[in-house]
Amino acid sequence: MKAHIVLLPGDGVGPEVTAAAWSVLTAVARRGGHRFEGSEASIGGAAIDATGQPLPAATLAACEAADAMLLGAVGGPRWSDPSAPVRPEQALLALRRHFELFANLRPVPLFPALAAFSPVKPERLAGADILFVRELTGGLYFGERREQGEGDAAFDTMSYTVAEVERVGRVAFAAAQARRGKLTSVDKANVLASMRLWRRTITRLAADYPDVELEHQLVDSCAMRLMTHPASFDVVVTENMFGDILSDEAGVLSGSLGLLPSASLGAARRGLYEPVHGSAPDIAGQGIANPVGAILSAALLLRHSLGLEAEAVAVEHAVAGAFADGARTADLATPGERTLSTEEMTAAVIARLAGET
Ligand code: IPM
Ligand code: MG
Repeated sequence: MKAHIVLLPGDGVGPEVTAAAWSVLTAVARRGGHRFEGSEASIGGAAIDATGQPLPAATLAACEAADAMLLGAVGGPRWSDPSAPVRPEQALLALRRHFELFANLRPVPLFPALAAFSPVKPERLAGADILFVRELTGGLYFGERREQGEGDAAFDTMSYTVAEVERVGRVAFAAAQARRGKLTSVDKANVLASMRLWRRTITRLAADYPDVELEHQLVDSCAMRLMTHPASFDVVVTENMFGDILSDEAGVLSGSLGLLPSASLGAARRGLYEPVHGSAPDIAGQGIANPVGAILSAALLLRHSLGLEAEAVAVEHAVAGAFADGARTADLATPGERTLSTEEMTAAVIARLAGET
């Protein structure tokens, strides 16, 4: 197949991990006889420096013309003043809003070979396999907000419509159907009106998915259960900010933030794919960033925007295989063991890919 992918390297380690993911996609194309065309556009702090805007019009136009967007990371100490009028992360929020990317998929990858790096005991971790579906264009991050008076008061609003909850709910139910048939909907319905609407709507949707077992859980107790009984979850669907927080928390189960991928999807096929980690300015430019979060994001791109399921699975198996063979980046270092650079880790995955059928 032919596909056009726009690469948005961004800041810090973003360019390094995006290049790694792109080499894996190139290898996938070569093996499968596909033609993937990549073009690069600027975003985040790099774009602010070049144009004054975190998401320049030319970048948005390039995204509109592409089948999928592969992003590295945005942000860094140079642009970190939270009260500055333009900030790198505005580009992310603008892209999510512009393309109505309302469903954010965040799988928590657990590789048996890396179990020792998890802060959670192996016996609790055994069998865990969680997929977060975070609502991404509504809720607290997109509600009305205002700073009032001389800055002595401020408010944010958590609001949802039934339609907004339904569309993300359907993504989550469908994902549960394709997995182990279990859905945990996380809310705060004991306090918040918007979350009572959330719970009512998800409950009503369940009638359309009789093969999915639905449970509701309050966000505070869910935060505990993720650490005490991680294997008791399959798919978790939740509000924008709750999903932001809980998916970072669950990410520690995997052993390194550098491993986590994400996909942001809307009604159309075009999605935005990015590792969950940030720009990591402390290690930027050293060639030691873990490329796996970006590589697994590329696998999600193959699956969700290009419909190449077999290729996506091959990339995921290649990553697992490389870890099983002992490949380790600096974030997964054991004293005395040699660690791989970003490029070496990428090469290890590509070498494994050759052995996947
Ligand atoms: C994320 C990030 C963003 C979010 C920030 C950078 C706006 O934390 O993608 O999880 O909160 O959505
Ligand atoms: Mg976050």
